Amino acid sequence: MLSLEKLLSRYNPITGEMPGATMVKRHLSDLRGCFANNAAFEATLAAGNPLLYSVGAVEPAGGEGDLHYGVGMLMPGKIGNEYFMTKGHLHSWRPAAEFYFGLTGAGVMLLEDETSGQSRMVPLQANGVVYVPGYTAHRTMNVGKTPLTYIGVYPAKAGHDYSTIAKTNFRFVVVERDGQPVMIERNKL
Ligand code: PA5
Ligand code: NI
Repeated sequence: MLSLEKLLSRYNPITGEMPGATMVKRHLSDLRGCFANNAAFEATLAAGNPLLYSVGAVEPAGGEGDLHYGVGMLMPGKIGNEYFMTKGHLHSWRPAAEFYFGLTGAGVMLLEDETSGQSRMVPLQANGVVYVPGYTAHRTMNVGKTPLTYIGVYPAKAGHDYSTIAKTNFRFVVVERDGQPVMIERNKL
């Protein structure tokens, strides 16, 4: 198993590639239904199917006490006035928390408590850290003009549940207003 240091030394910050990790690439078509402005989504899709992000996932075989992590690269861009973003998920094992460490670029994370629906937007930027508590759906947006790269570290048994939060697609959307990211209730758009 590669040490994190060795693995990150293989990380290519230009391409987001990391030999030795399982790469997941998500294009715009993979986020059908996520963006609020469907007409803008279809128009961008018709003009091509841009890569929105890639994640190099590393899952050391150390058992339940181990940590898994993913190095993500989220491209800059918007669909209408909504920033490029990740699908977002809850952890299958709901108590699992996660630390996000910002490596480059400027982003925000949308955190939504599964039970109360309470939501908040927190900055994720180079040398910054975001703590995602358990029972919390999380989605990342690139609000800058360069790729946002970060590492997310979570308990080995966390797992990813995409379908539960996809049903409501997060209560808030993050859009650009006067050059700044703001969160707006989806049903008040
Ligand atoms: O585990 C995490 O939270 C991250 O590594 C994410 O998987 C990554 O940011 C991509 O987002 P998503 O899994 O929602 O597509
Ligand atoms: Ni996660």
